[in-house]
Amino acid sequence: MTRARSSMTSPSSTPEEDFIFPTGGALGAEVRGVDLSLPLSESEVATIRRALLDHFVLLFPGQRITDEELVRFTSYFGRPVEHVRQQRDRPVKEIFFISNVRENGELIGALGNEEVSFHSDLSYLPRPGTLSLLYAVEVPSSGGDTHWCNCSAAYEALGAAAKDELKGLRALHRHYVDSQNPLEPVTHPVVCTHPDSGRRALYVGPHLTKSIVGMPSTDSDALLQRLYDHLSQPRFIWTHSWCLGDLIMWDNRPTMHRRDAFPDTERRVMKRTQVFNDEVPFE
Ligand code: SIN
Repeated sequence: MTRARSSMTSPSSTPEEDFIFPTGGALGAEVRGVDLSLPLSESEVATIRRALLDHFVLLFPGQRITDEELVRFTSYFGRPVEHVRQQRDRPVKEIFFISNVRENGELIGALGNEEVSFHSDLSYLPRPGTLSLLYAVEVPSSGGDTHWCNCSAAYEALGAAAKDELKGLRALHRHYVDSQNPLEPVTHPVVCTHPDSGRRALYVGPHLTKSIVGMPSTDSDALLQRLYDHLSQPRFIWTHSWCLGDLIMWDNRPTMHRRDAFPDTERRVMKRTQVFNDEVPFE
């Protein structure tokens, strides 16, 4: 890992292309030469924000950071908050563990080793989280890849008739664990507009979206399945196989993600932070 960050400090003299490397896939870019254990300058943060707006998912490989440094990096982009889901006591509350590891018979984190289907984080809340960050602390030798879908490109690829059909539609979102849900049902537009870029994106996924509001269930199921089939085409998906020290930050508004299962005989420990900007998704 390089600690030299001179290429990041003066965007006017060193173009973004010098350190932001698009994946060449459906979305995503790798940010090289940034050491997140050090504080970032305003211009560095502005460059990363711009890159996130352009690429939706950013990979910072080879990081070695403490919990406090992960929270500090997260805070450049909004308010890092304690995750809404309860987790065992831990020194830094804003860190949420995603893991299959057990200590004293209890899982230390969420999601175990199973596959998790496509979703945008916390869409079952009226004000879902905007950005998520995941830092790889232990990775299995196989499996556990994460796949991101470019839901903006998927929306833009729809024909005019399909876009018209979705106008004004809302979908019900619900967590599969009942107690995680707010008392009132949560609905969001099927097509949401990104507040910073103005780009529209499909905002439905099989993990957390339950139905289209006001539609008979067979029609609702058929429409959602049609959208999921469209979204899951390889041309909209980018997959990452995790290495130790990878940190990935993504914007949940124009993307959704899913994770592959991995052998429960191996350990996977990821530290997650979440940014909330109190935004209500809008069409
Ligand atoms: C998630 O679905 O939010 C977790 C992704 C992962 O474990 O890679």
